[in-house]
Amino acid sequence: MPQTTLTLRDGRPLHVRRLERTDADAFGCFLEKLGTTTRSFFGPHPLTAPEAARLCAAQPERDALRLVVAEPGGRIVAYFILELGLRAEDAQRLAARGQPLDPATAVTLAPVVADDYQNTGVAGAAFPSVVEEARATGRTHLVLMGGTQERNARAVRFYLREGFTPHGRFEYPPGTWNIDMTRTV
Ligand SMILES: CC(C)(COP(=O)(O)OP(=O)(O)OC[C@H]1O[C@@H](n2cnc3c(N)ncnc32)[C@H](O)[C@@H]1OP(=O)(O)O)[C@@H](O)C(=O)NCCC(=O)NCCS
Repeated sequence: MPQTTLTLRDGRPLHVRRLERTDADAFGCFLEKLGTTTRSFFGPHPLTAPEAARLCAAQPERDALRLVVAEPGGRIVAYFILELGLRAEDAQRLAARGQPLDPATAVTLAPVVADDYQNTGVAGAAFPSVVEEARATGRTHLVLMGGTQERNARAVRFYLREGFTPHGRFEYPPGTWNIDMTRTV
């Protein structure tokens, strides 16, 4: 993927690109600084510097694409995981609702934006690059990893705006309600 330049609503330029092997420090800093509320919505892997180093050393991966949005100075401000296929629990819920999806056609998505960049439009500005990367895999569907929490109003609004369809709610863990959403790419 070539690096793409975005312009935020306030005019600031940012770059979207794949996570690189040399990103360990910047990526570790990004993960470590995610706040408590953000962590309560996003937890696909440990949000730590050692995990950042492990993931960077693993690039490129066979089964996942990782995109980052970075300031011109190098600070990472957003991260999108695109896993090829479906996680077993996501596949089971979709199938149980009569909407089975072939894992070979799916890309599983999990996005997160740095606390001080949330609600600036950064994820929306980067989303065409995310869709383009998903499409380039030859797969046809984007699926939210573990759905999205119902109480996460910003994320729900974001996904609806970006063309996702809600499919149904489920309770996990007990007391937390989530919504499964997918879209075609
Ligand atoms: C969800 C997330 C990825 C969205 O990225 P973002 O860059 O903040 O999103 P954008 O600014 O492009 O869009 C947010 C939209 O939500 C709206 N919004 C913000 N707060 C809201 C609220 N409390 N209720 C409803 N809508 C809200 C904004 O107005 C905007 O919509 P609009 O542009 O149509 O007006 C980001 O906020 C984030 O990382 N959140 C914490 C982690 C997380 O929730 N990850 C997803 C897990 S499923």
